[in-house]
Amino acid sequence: MRGPQREAQSGMPGRVTIYEVGPRDGLQNEKTVVPVEVKAEFVRRLVSAGLDTVETTSFVSPEWVPQLADSAELLSLLGDVGRGRNRPVLVPNDRGLDAALAQGVQAVAIFGSATETFARKNLNRSVDESIAMFAPVVARARVEGLWVRAYVSMCFGDPWEGDVPIDQVVAVASRMMDLGCDQLSLGDTIGTGTTGHVHRLLDALDTNGVGPDRIGVHFHDTYGQALANTLAALAHGVTVVDASTGGLGGCPYAKSATGNLATEALVWALDGLGIETGIDLEALVETSVWMAGHLGRPSPSRVVKALAGGDV
Ligand code: HMG
Ligand code: MG
Repeated sequence: MRGPQREAQSGMPGRVTIYEVGPRDGLQNEKTVVPVEVKAEFVRRLVSAGLDTVETTSFVSPEWVPQLADSAELLSLLGDVGRGRNRPVLVPNDRGLDAALAQGVQAVAIFGSATETFARKNLNRSVDESIAMFAPVVARARVEGLWVRAYVSMCFGDPWEGDVPIDQVVAVASRMMDLGCDQLSLGDTIGTGTTGHVHRLLDALDTNGVGPDRIGVHFHDTYGQALANTLAALAHGVTVVDASTGGLGGCPYAKSATGNLATEALVWALDGLGIETGIDLEALVETSVWMAGHLGRPSPSRVVKALAGGDV
């Protein structure tokens, strides 16, 4: 399979960790519920393609996200493949943490919002109330020795509130990290961010004590900016990038959220820069084609289209 010509660029990291969100962010947004055996096979294929970190599912209310109501069953099907500090799951509250712990989960992610409107739409709570809901979850997760990630959504714009001031994002992110989280993921939930905005937010977080070594970036690709924004973040010292195989993804509670940055597009760009990922791009493309067959529509990723179509 074709690969890009390798030409390094100064100021870029030597290695990048891809944080794969396809099974969670990708499948939470599908109209049809994907059978649990297909989800398990998806995760297994991603792991064997060389993805180190795979977010497998969410332990949220089944009424809110019926697409992932089978999370306990999925983890029991996956056995050891679904466990470990690099197999996080989303948990919003104590009930979710209990269910995740019962499955032997060792890494969890809480998910807050930089804006009041999305906090209410996604969590049925204000920003303050949602942080109060997360606090005991993180405290208990730490006692249990779990790795904890904090997502903050709407960091680069909100469909109801419009522009989101950088100070507002920094304030929420700092409160979430102060709960005791290991990593912050900056969510561009509706994909409106641009490169200068990425630099400014990362600068502001750094000034407030959250450096790029503790940050992951999570770009949705609604406006085609996800890869450019990712490269801007890498140039700023970030080395953890969220991506979704095949470019699946979105949030059922955010208007105009489309797929995440496609993992294949990211791997292509990193390969070209000579940045180590340890990923077999061909296996990833095969996985996307296989999953597209189950979803009944082609992958939106242009790299998948080009490589699966045999472009040279
Ligand atoms: P609520 O209705 O306020 O919950 O929802 P509640 O505490 O009042 O409980 C209501 C019922 O739900 C109760 O059942 C609870 O037990 C049950 P009842 O006693 O009436 O029979 N319940 C649960 N059941 C199973 N697991 C649970 C759970 N919690 C309560 N964990 C809640 C509040 C937070 C639960 C709800 O709003 C929710 O589940 N929200 C999740 C929404 C979601 O998953 N969104 C997508 C993920 S975020 C995202 O995609 C963005 C991201 O990708 C980054 C980016 O792109 O920006 C991360
Ligand atoms: Mg997302």
